[in-house]
Amino acid sequence: MKIGALRESDPNENRVALVPETVERLVKAGHELFIEHGAGTAAGFPDSDYLEAGAKNASATEIAGSVEILVHVQPPSSEEVASLKKGCIVVSMLNARTNPSGVTGLASAGVTALAMELVPRIARAQRMDVLSSQASIAGYKAALIAANSLGKYLPMMMTAAGTIPPAKVLVLGAGVAGLQAIATTRRLGAVVEAFDVRAAAGEQVESLGAKFIQPPAAEDAEGAGGYARAQTEDEQAVQREFLKEHISQADAVITTAAIPGRPAPLLMTEDMVAVMKPGSVIIDLAAESGGNVAGTVAGEIIVKNGVSINGPINVPSSMPFHASQLYSRNVMALFDLIIDRKDGTIKLDFEDEVIDIMCVAHEGEVRHGLGE
Ligand code: NAI
Repeated sequence: MKIGALRESDPNENRVALVPETVERLVKAGHELFIEHGAGTAAGFPDSDYLEAGAKNASATEIAGSVEILVHVQPPSSEEVASLKKGCIVVSMLNARTNPSGVTGLASAGVTALAMELVPRIARAQRMDVLSSQASIAGYKAALIAANSLGKYLPMMMTAAGTIPPAKVLVLGAGVAGLQAIATTRRLGAVVEAFDVRAAAGEQVESLGAKFIQPPAAEDAEGAGGYARAQTEDEQAVQREFLKEHISQADAVITTAAIPGRPAPLLMTEDMVAVMKPGSVIIDLAAESGGNVAGTVAGEIIVKNGVSINGPINVPSSMPFHASQLYSRNVMALFDLIIDRKDGTIKLDFEDEVIDIMCVAHEGEVRHGLGE
């Protein structure tokens, strides 16, 4: 089968959907691999590595017009979609829930679209879970950004000139990204506290050597699929009052809270930012979905009363080598599910909940009501 990857058209995207390691496995399995010239360069994978792994370099038009499976990181552009062969399978993050016109475009082009971000959070599908692989990178990077922006040491330092106490870090939202931010700031020696509305996160936070903080008599807010449910106004008010005290002590706050399919919850109001000491930093990983912090501007660093509010965007793209490697492995795990091992042909089993949920366009139709 012919499988290809293009260079991402978004100039801020450094990742590549297929890395040489995956290409080699696919070529060994008998497939023909096509990689656009320079597709992996920004991620640290030169064309020569792909050629060595058995792929052929080709132009975007040649690839789009000939492959049976096209793999992408960001949703393909409308020009790319227009040049695809009818019946081809597009495997990509599609932002399908927030990009109805993109889904409709894919359906109209007659391609089958599998949205990587919709892989269900079930044990069997963990190997394909791009939300986890990429969020883990974002959490790690958020910790490094915090360390790099602070005018302080993270670890305690005993020097000839006296002792420096460790920095205090507060992580709000202890899911995949939050836990990685905790692990990384702990490794760097900070004293870390974390809060999440899901009580189950407490044990994981403590296993990383951080302190789990919760408002007195807080109710567990775990919802469907292990995700958080939205909170009531009263719950939010109690939570904010409680967090204010901890925020005022923190040198760095890293926020990662999200609720699937909704704008990010506002965890830090202006008055909560105002209690932080000058020189403190906030890294808001939810910036792209509205932000957890009042004053966050996606893609910018805003300084208010000496406190910097950083809202980085597409953080995984800033660590493109490993982000691409993990993404590519997630895609490979999906291939194990959709490509028949014996005859190498595509078998889409819509009875399988993973395929059913991920497939947002097929045979000209938008599925699950996700289009315009
Ligand atoms: P996410 O990105 O949707 O949210 C991040 C975190 O923010 C979550 O821990 C959530 O509880 C928290 N949060 C939401 N509203 C909040 C608020 N108002 N205040 C404080 N925290 C708030 O979720 P993520 O990180 O993608 O995954 C969350 C959980 O899903 C994981 O911890 C795990 O239990 C489960 N999961 C299961 C997987 C599987 O079985 N394949 C894979 C990945 C995650």
